[in-house]
Amino acid sequence: MSQWHAEFPLNPEIYYLNHAAVAPWPARTAQAVEAFAQENIQQGASQYPNWLATEQQLKSRLATLINATDWQDIALLKNTSEALSVVAYGIAWQPGDNVVISDQEFPSNRIVWESLANQGVTVKQVDISGNHPEQALIEACDQHTRLLSISSVQYASGLKLDLTQLGNHCQQAGILYCVDAIQSIGAVQFDATAIKADFVMADGHKWMLGPEGLALFYSTPQARAKLSLKQFGWHMVEDQGNYDTLDWEIAQSARRFECGSPNMLGAYALNASIGLLLEVGMANVEQQLLDNIIWLQQQLAQLNNVQVISTTETNRYAGIVTFRVNSQEMAALHRHLMDKGVICAYRGGGIRLSPHFYTSKPVLEESLQIIKEAIG
Ligand SMILES: Cc1ncc(COP(=O)(O)O)c(C=O)c1O
Repeated sequence: MSQWHAEFPLNPEIYYLNHAAVAPWPARTAQAVEAFAQENIQQGASQYPNWLATEQQLKSRLATLINATDWQDIALLKNTSEALSVVAYGIAWQPGDNVVISDQEFPSNRIVWESLANQGVTVKQVDISGNHPEQALIEACDQHTRLLSISSVQYASGLKLDLTQLGNHCQQAGILYCVDAIQSIGAVQFDATAIKADFVMADGHKWMLGPEGLALFYSTPQARAKLSLKQFGWHMVEDQGNYDTLDWEIAQSARRFECGSPNMLGAYALNASIGLLLEVGMANVEQQLLDNIIWLQQQLAQLNNVQVISTTETNRYAGIVTFRVNSQEMAALHRHLMDKGVICAYRGGGIRLSPHFYTSKPVLEESLQIIKEAIG
């Protein structure tokens, strides 16, 4: 993977293990933004058709990345939380309906469902700390369950779920299946079609190496037809360019969720980042990332007083390893590591490390050395 290091000219004084939060951009992404800025100051939007072509290329690349059958099943929204809200506020709930989630969800995939309480919707938070998390989620579903919403990889523990098992159950039981895949897409291979997801959402600023504020929202045609819309505008109608007609109908494609002008600057940036991931190949990205995670897990497990919180069971992790140190204050340790240049996160009561595929062995070794010195 050393051939990709030139794409990540990070300051040599920092060790960037925080892709599960916000990732650095590749060099080509910065170049794409610079070129777009130059174009804007020199020509304005005179080449607008090229911009649209770039936006469409981004949707096509995202479709490839998640194995969607049609790029028109992808909408570009602001972030994961917005996409979750589109689902939550699009469904015609009946009082007594429930939504099943896990008890390890990032707040975005809990709060939005809890906000439906005034419509008589309850949220079942399922303990997934046991040996069979998927089974626990499936057993929590009952005849009033309208939707199962789950993070593909839990943000703090890094636990990766068997999304196919959950998708099969949802399909059999007629339950809508919503996957917050922000901790998977760009880190590991992800197949929206195989897992039978109705909805998938993920912002681009983590494993996809893009800027904040541009997220993919995938929906199948059947699933999106079940959502009423809350935002309207010129961009989400079938006959999009026809400003003169007074008639309009909602676009069949996922564009129906994009009410107005797109975030074109973000699209240029994310398009470049996804281009890199596809060039490397997601199988290679995943392999290298998992090698990095396994190495960190094994090294941390050998340290006295260190407890690796993340599971080490094969197929149960993606890009996250989280650990605690007995009798040490984790918030203080986090601050110390950040001061020493180890860019990491304080999550789930521990220190969360999240390298990416390009993270080199010397960066991992140096980070481990700093951790060792910090914990004594
Ligand atoms: C699992 C998960 N979902 C959602 C988010 C937040 O997404 P956004 O800011 O795109 O709404 C995060 C961010 O850490 C996350 O880890």
